[in-house]
Amino acid sequence: MVRTNEARVTVLGLGAMGRALAGAFLAAGHATTVWNRSPGRDDELVARGAVRAPSLRAAIDASPLVIACVLDAAATREIVEPVVDALAGRVLVNYSSDTPERARELATWAGEHHIELLDAAIMVPTAVIGQPEALVLYSGSSQAFGSHRSTLEALGGSPRYLGTDTRMAALYDLALLDLFYSSMIGFVHGLALVGADGVSAAQFMPLAHEFFALLPGMAATIAAAVDQGEHPGTFDNVRMEAAGLAHIVDAAHARGIDTRTVVAAKSIFDDAVAAGHGNESFSSIIEVLRRAGPRTTRG
Ligand SMILES: NC(=O)c1ccc[n+]([C@@H]2O[C@H](COP(=O)([O-])OP(=O)(O)OC[C@H]3O[C@@H](n4cnc5c(N)ncnc54)[C@H](OP(=O)(O)O)[C@@H]3O)[C@@H](O)[C@H]2O)c1
Repeated sequence: MVRTNEARVTVLGLGAMGRALAGAFLAAGHATTVWNRSPGRDDELVARGAVRAPSLRAAIDASPLVIACVLDAAATREIVEPVVDALAGRVLVNYSSDTPERARELATWAGEHHIELLDAAIMVPTAVIGQPEALVLYSGSSQAFGSHRSTLEALGGSPRYLGTDTRMAALYDLALLDLFYSSMIGFVHGLALVGADGVSAAQFMPLAHEFFALLPGMAATIAAAVDQGEHPGTFDNVRMEAAGLAHIVDAAHARGIDTRTVVAAKSIFDDAVAAGHGNESFSSIIEVLRRAGPRTTRG
C-alpha cells in the first residue's frame, strides 16, 4: 500500500466501530496501529496495511495520537491504566460513549497523568464513517484538537469541536440520542397503530415522509420560544395537545397496542395544564420537564 499521509495513529478497541475508525484512517493513508483486548478482530485491517501491535504498550508507543473505542469510559480507563506512563505526553481521544460526568472524570484522570484528552461522540453508524455525511463531535483539549484535526478528518465530514469543557461531546450526544429514541419510538408506535387496521409500513411511509419534512420548522419555533422563555399560545395550546394525546392513548388502547409511551407523554401535558400552562404553546412543557428533580450535575 502506498501511504499518502504519514501521521501515525493507534486504535485501541476493534469492535464494529473501532474497526470502522481504523479502516477510515487506513483509507486516508495514515500509518495505523491496532490493538484489541481479545485476539482475532484485526485480520482484515492487517490485510489492508494496519500494524498489529505485539502488546498494548507497543501500540501506544507507536503513535502520538491514541484512539480508544470500547464499551464505555470505564473500559477506556481499564485498558490504558496499566500502561498510563506510556500515554504521558500523548493525545488520547476517547470515542467510547458515556455520560458527560464520566467524560469529565476521565479528563481529570488523564490530566493527572499528563495525557491530553479529547472526548468524542460518534453520531453515525459504522457504514457512514469516512463518508462526507459523517458527524463526529469533540470536546476537551483545544490544543489536541488543533494539532490532530487533519488526522481526525479521515473519519469523514467535518470534525465538530464543541469547546474545552470535556463534557460537551457526551452532552450533545445524549441530547441528540434523546431526540432519536423519542421520535423513533413514536414512529414505530405509529406503525403499530396504522398496522392494527391493516395499513402496512410501506403504505404509511409517503405521508410520514411529508410529515418528517415539517418537523425542522416546528423544532425551530419551539427552540426560539425556549430561549426567549415565552410560550404565547397563539397558534397552539397545551390543553388542545393534551386532548390530542388522549386520542392516541384511546385509539392505541382500542387496538390492544402498548400505551406506555403515549400515556407518559400525555401525563407531561396534563401536568403542564395543572401547572397553569394550558393556554400556552407546546414549548411550555419545558417548565414541567425542568422541574422534575434537583439538579445534581453542576460544573
Ligand atoms: N456501532 C455503532 O454504530 C456505534 C455508533 C456510535 C457510537 N458507538 C460507540 O462506539 C463504542 C464501541 O462500540 P462498538 O459498536 O465497536 O461495540 P462492540 O462491537 O460491541 O465492541 C466493543 C469493544 O469494546 C471492547 N471492550 C468492551 N469492554 C472492554 C473492557 N472492559 N476492556 C477492554 N475492552 C473492552 C471489546 O473488546 P473485546 O473484543 O475484547 O470484547 C470490543 O473491542 C461504544 O461506546 C458505542 O456506544 C458505536
